[in-house]
Order: sequence, then C-alpha cells, then structure tokens
Amino acid sequence: MPSSSSSSPNNYSTKILASILFAILLILCAGAGYGEAQLSPTFYDKDCPNATSIVRAVIEEALQTDLRIAASLTRLFFHDCFVNGCDGSILLDNSSTIDSEKGALPNNNSARGFDVVDNIKTALETACPGIVSCADILAISAEESVSLSGGPSWTVLLGRRDSTTANRTAANEALPAPSFTLDELKASFAAVGLDTTDLVALSGAHTFGRAQCQFFSDRLYAFNSTGSPDPTLNSTYLETLSALCPQSGNGSVLADLDPSTPDGFDADYFSNLQVHYGLLQSDQELFSTSGADTVDIINSYSANQSAFFESFVISMNKMGNISLLTGTDGEIRLNCSKVNEDTYGSSATLIAEY
Ligand code: HEM
Ligand SMILES: *[C@@H]1O[C@H](CO)[C@@H](O)[C@H](O)[C@H]1NC(C)=O
Ligand SMILES: *[C@@H]1O[C@H](CO)[C@@H](O)[C@H](O)[C@H]1NC(C)=O
Ligand SMILES: *[C@@H]1O[C@H](CO)[C@@H](O)[C@H](O)[C@H]1NC(C)=O
Ligand SMILES: *[C@@H]1O[C@H](CO)[C@@H](O)[C@H](O)[C@H]1NC(C)=O
Ligand SMILES: *[C@@H]1O[C@H](CO)[C@@H](O)[C@H](O)[C@H]1NC(C)=O
Ligand SMILES: *[C@@H]1O[C@H](CO)[C@@H](O)[C@H](O)[C@H]1NC(C)=O
Ligand SMILES: *[C@@H]1O[C@H](CO)[C@@H](O)[C@H](O)[C@H]1NC(C)=O
Ligand SMILES: *[C@@H]1O[C@H](CO)[C@@H](O)[C@H](O)[C@H]1NC(C)=O
Ligand SMILES: *[C@@H]1O[C@H](CO)[C@@H](O)[C@H](O)[C@H]1NC(C)=O
Ligand SMILES: *[C@@H]1O[C@H](CO)[C@@H](O)[C@H](O)[C@H]1NC(C)=O
Repeated sequence: MPSSSSSSPNNYSTKILASILFAILLILCAGAGYGEAQLSPTFYDKDCPNATSIVRAVIEEALQTDLRIAASLTRLFFHDCFVNGCDGSILLDNSSTIDSEKGALPNNNSARGFDVVDNIKTALETACPGIVSCADILAISAEESVSLSGGPSWTVLLGRRDSTTANRTAANEALPAPSFTLDELKASFAAVGLDTTDLVALSGAHTFGRAQCQFFSDRLYAFNSTGSPDPTLNSTYLETLSALCPQSGNGSVLADLDPSTPDGFDADYFSNLQVHYGLLQSDQELFSTSGADTVDIINSYSANQSAFFESFVISMNKMGNISLLTGTDGEIRLNCSKVNEDTYGSSATLIAEY
C-alpha cells in the first residue's frame, strides 16, 4: 500500500509529461503544414500511393461504354468547387440533414457521373480504407478525364476533406446559367476569386460533352424576347440545331457542345466561337460581346492549343483551391453520397475523422 501511494503521483506526472509531449508533437505536425489550408501533390503518397491510377482505371472502364463520362466528371468538379468550395458537397444525397445540391436547377436531371464516382470510391476504399476524400476524387477525376480525352495532364494538388453539409440554395445562386451575359459570367467567376482569363480558359471545357436542347433552344426561336433567333448564332448551325431541337419538342435531347470533335479535349471550342458555333449563349457571349476583353484570349487559344492547355491547367488549379476544408476540418466520407454520421452513426464519425 505505501508503495502504491508513492508510485501513483509518479504515474500521474508521467501521464502529464506524455500528454505534453503528445501536444507538442501535434503542434509540430500542424507547423509542418498538416493543419494549414495548403494542398500537396504528394498528399497520398504514403497512405494511398496508387490513388491516381485507381481513379484512372475506373474511368477507363466507364469510357468503354460511355464516351461522355469524361465530360460529365469534369463538370462535377466545377459544380462542386463553385458551391461553398471543393468539398464533395455535390455528391451528397437528400437525407434528414442534407438538402441535396443534386436538386438545384443547374444539376437536376443534368449533373451525371455519380455512379462512376461511387465505383471509384469503392475501389479506393478497398485499396486504402478511409484515406482518400470524395472532394479529391473529383479533382483527380477531372484531371484524368481531361488527359484521357486528349487534353493536358497535370499534377493534381491534394488534401481536400469532405463537407458534412450541402446547400441547394447556394448551388442555385453560385452556378452560372447558360443564359448569362458576359458581365454576369464575370461576376459569377469573380465571386469565387476567378478572373476573366480563368473564365475563358475554363469555358474551354465545353470542348467535350453534351447539352440538352432546353438550355439553348431560346436562342433558336425567341431569343431575348425578340421572337427571332440569336443573331450571334451561325445560320448554318442554327439550321442544324433547329432540326435537332424543334420548338416545343423534347427538351432533354442532347447536342454536342463541340460539334467538330464531340469527345476530344482540344482548342476547337475557341475556333468554333470564331465562326459563331458556340452552343450556349454563355459560350458565344465570350466572343460576340462587342469590345470584350475576352476576344483576344479566345483568338490566342484558337491559334495555339498549347497556350490553351497551359492556361486551363493553371485555372483548374485555381478552381480546385476554392474554400477548402483541410487538416482536421470536415471528414473523409466513407460513402460519397452520405455524411459518415448517416452511414455509421455518430461514433463512426469520430473514428473516421482521424
Ligand atoms: C461559364 C459558365 C458555364 C455555364 C453557364 C455552363 C453551363 C453548362 C450547361 C447548361 C451545360 C449542359 C448541361 C446539360 O445539358 O445537362 C454544360 C455542360 C458542361 N459543362 Fe459547363 N458551364 C459553364 C462553365 C463550365 C466550366 C467552368 C466547366 C469545367 C471546367 C464546364 C464543364 C462542362 C462540361 C464538361 C459539360 C458537358 C457535361 C456532360 O456532357 O455531361 N462548364 N455546362
Ligand atoms: C500499385 O499498383 C501496382 C500496379 O498497378 C502494383 O504492382 C502495386 O502493388 C500497387 N501498390 C499498392 C501499394 O497497392
Ligand atoms: C430533395 O428533397 C427536396 C425536398 O426536400 C426535393 O425538392 C428534391 O427534389 C430532393 N432532391 C433529390 C435529388 O431527390
Ligand atoms: C428535379 O426534377 C424532377 C423531375 O425529374 C422533379 O420531380 C423534381 O421536383 C426536381 N427537383 C427540384 C428540387 O426541383
Ligand atoms: C445556404 O446558402 C444560402 C445562399 O448562399 C445562404 O443564405 C444560407 O444561409 C445557407 N444555408 C446554410 C444552412 O448555410
Ligand atoms: C436583350 O435585350 C435587351 C433590351 O432590348 C438588350 O439591352 C440586351 O443587350 C439584349 N441581350 C442580349 C444578350 O442580346
Ligand atoms: C426525350 O429525350 C430523352 C433523351 O433523348 C429521352 O431519354 C426521353 O425518353 C425523351 N422523352 C420523351 C417524352 O420522348
Ligand atoms: C458560319 O459557319 C461557316 C462554316 O459552317 C463559316 O464558313 C462562316 O464563316 C460562318 N459565318 C459566320 C458569320 O461566322
Ligand atoms: C504557344 O503557347 C505556348 C505556351 O504558352 C508557347 O510556349 C509557344 O511559344 C506558343 N507558340 C506560338 C507559335 O506562339
Ligand atoms: C491556394 O490558396 C491558398 C490560400 O487560400 C494560397 O496560399 C495558395 O497559394 C493557393 N494555391 C493555388 C495553387 O492557387
Ligand atoms: C452509398 O450509399 C448509397 C445511398 O445510401 C447506397 O445506395 C450505396 O450502395 C452506398 N455505397 C456503398 C459502396 O456502400
């Protein structure tokens, strides 16, 4: 008994010492960049070294049956980043706590590729459970989709964490509409810290993928309440599109955003704009708004694909850096469509946070 009474204070101070050392260790880790809002190209090198090739393999598989999927995944990243940052919020389904962004006007019956994101997540959870965030899956998927389609490849900065919230109202407000004028487009990009060059370069993503008739048919029949077609639409293209999208026809029919190379990632988007073949009003506005500072940028990308690719990569990195959750903020979702608490209950949420 006497010995235990003398050893117990010793044990106690040992524990205090250990706690202090542990706290110092945590502070050192934070100082080494762990807690700072900075991404890193080597973020998963230790715990999930094959993350990128796993993502690529699933996308390659999906491309076998759906050439459009590369475009769809690239768009998901954009629609994630513009709404409260790149935090995977667009992937969350409705639940008692989630008002899904999938129901927002720009996403409803339009955003696609969620099944492929789920397949990627499943493959990553098998290889390295609880490591790779859904937000980073979208970032890697966008890069792999672009490069697999003939576009540039680049080093993706990683370390984003996933939100535990979504906001459908915010998605409706933050995402630009296809009927936007140039000033409205600039304002929408400026609101997330992106400039005019970013707007032009990132709009170049409309070099692949599809758009439904409902998003541009006003240009064919009753543009801007004039009762006539959009005067900036090439008359040959107007005929083609009118045949595809008859007035009061099926608004879900799909048109290629880039009619010359529908699934290839190249600079054709910009040469299309020069001959008034921009599909969406928001596309043609960039070239046809008189006196606009975007025209020179379009001409330079059209003349030099490398210049476009270089700008696109810079702007994708900027977009991928909008309002991030890093360090111990948010969580690493175990299922991209649900916050961890909805998947496993509140105790699993605590475990998954570390
Ligand atoms: C500048 C403002 C933008 C507007 C107004 C806009 C609007 C749209 C619209 C209306 C569609 C067609 C959706 C549908 O029919 O279901 C679309 C498709 C697409 N958008 Fe954008 N977008 C913009 C910028 C961007 C950016 C910045 C990116 C990526 C960096 C992007 C990537 C795509 C892709 C790849 C598709 C085709 C998706 C598919 O085929 O599934 N867009 N966009
Ligand atoms: C990464 O993938 C390669 C081949 O694709 C495989 O040989 C290697 O074992 C994988 N490494 C890990 C850590 O899974
Ligand atoms: C989510 O629920 C809201 C109503 O609470 C509904 O309007 C919306 O369509 C739902 N979204 C999805 C994607 O199911
Ligand atoms: C999404 O579209 C469906 C029709 O497919 C509609 O029933 C639903 O109300 C829409 N959701 C929202 C939030 O508008
Ligand atoms: C959702 O976004 C809207 C618009 O940005 C904002 O007014 C609202 O406060 C947000 N809701 C939540 C719960 O954060
Ligand atoms: C639409 O019409 C208004 C008023 O007639 C005009 O000021 C505006 O520039 C037009 N918008 C476009 C995109 O042509
Ligand atoms: C409208 O077009 C879409 C896409 O081509 C098709 O899936 C859908 O069945 C069509 N709806 C009607 C009512 O014809
Ligand atoms: C319309 O498109 C054709 C190619 O289909 C092109 O030769 C012509 O210059 C374009 N017209 C305008 C006004 O851009
Ligand atoms: C095309 O753009 C690249 C990248 O900006 C640049 O290095 C190259 O000199 C440009 N080529 C021409 C012919 O201007
Ligand atoms: C990302 O944002 C952080 C701070 O918000 C900044 O320090 C960093 O330079 C940015 N990185 C890129 C690639 O824009
Ligand atoms: C993720 O959650 C969704 C929605 O509850 C479910 O349908 C899906 O099977 C889950 N995915 C995995 C891999 O568990």
